[in-house]
Amino acid sequence: MHLTREEEKALGGEEGEGKRKAMEILVAIGEIYDAEELLPVGRAQISGVSYKTIGEAGMEFLRDLADRGAGIDILATLNPAGVDLEQWKELGYPRQFAEKQGEIIDAYTRMGAVPSCTCTPYLAENIPSPGEHIAWAESSSIAYANSVIGARTNRESGISALAAAIIGKTPNYGLHFDENRKPDLRIKVKAELREEADYSALGYYVGQNYDCIPLFQGIRPTKEEMKAFGAAFAVGPGALFHVESITPEAKKYGAEVVEKVEIGEDEIAEAYAELNTTEEADLVCIGCPHLSSREIRKVVRLKPEKKTWLFTSRQQKALFKEAIPKNTTLVCDTCMVVSPLEDIGIRSVATNSAKCAYYCRNLSGLEVKFGRLENLVR
Ligand code: F3S
Repeated sequence: MHLTREEEKALGGEEGEGKRKAMEILVAIGEIYDAEELLPVGRAQISGVSYKTIGEAGMEFLRDLADRGAGIDILATLNPAGVDLEQWKELGYPRQFAEKQGEIIDAYTRMGAVPSCTCTPYLAENIPSPGEHIAWAESSSIAYANSVIGARTNRESGISALAAAIIGKTPNYGLHFDENRKPDLRIKVKAELREEADYSALGYYVGQNYDCIPLFQGIRPTKEEMKAFGAAFAVGPGALFHVESITPEAKKYGAEVVEKVEIGEDEIAEAYAELNTTEEADLVCIGCPHLSSREIRKVVRLKPEKKTWLFTSRQQKALFKEAIPKNTTLVCDTCMVVSPLEDIGIRSVATNSAKCAYYCRNLSGLEVKFGRLENLVR
């Protein structure tokens, strides 16, 4: 990999220990993927924020990096943490967990990250332009940025996104190049998709069954439905999809795709069946990915009869001005997957998100009811 003199200096430790470590990470990744150079980026989205997912070792690593003076000069936002940083006590989370979480946020903010704690940075303060090169972790936001916005990022990990944030560069390979963004499978959807949950089931099915960059025909999703779709799709290896006449790069490449498949009602039903393990749930969890204020409004107007937590960013919460029904709580800074619900007595959740269903079962060991919104809250 070709490094500039400045990059060589950072790698040699002349600009401090923090930058040296970050350069080592970027060079190692660049060599794995045969990148020829580093590419400047102005935005990062960093995952690996919850104490539940990174534990003591991750916290020590971040604290050490901050203590060694690692600094972030670009806009770097954070993924959800393990608790709502303001109302963790009222929601029943253990003090010790909340304190550890506070230390992680402190290390990130000392380095210069913005403690946004959301997986929808593109709805808040981190909004890339079409064609912009970025370094994002968090698979759902990667899928949205690449597909719906037309920005360019590989599937960064928490560590590689943090290193990119510290250096302001990322290895130039993969989805940063035109030729790697072309669809290789045309998917004709013959099922009737009515809402986010249906799109989420479709995304899950495609992500689990095809390792591809799909081009969809026969659907007209809203941005919120693409948000739901992309999160579930990216439970598999995917990071980019195109939708004919909707997403920004679909027209550019669409004519070239040769291989075709069809997806109908049976495949959508298969995804629902695979993700459902229970009929009753302790808690309805909506907001994977985090809800926009418009989506909050949609749930609130259904007047949930079941105990319901709505996960969102502080920024979208601030935009929502209506009264919250008594069974419903707006929860910020965290999500149902990276928060230790299982430690506060929750054994089962109901959700309209296939990603939430998949990880609540496989990461947290919870029973899951996966269905359409109205059927969950009533
Ligand atoms: Fe976001 Fe958590 Fe889902 S990070 S995409 S709400 S698993």
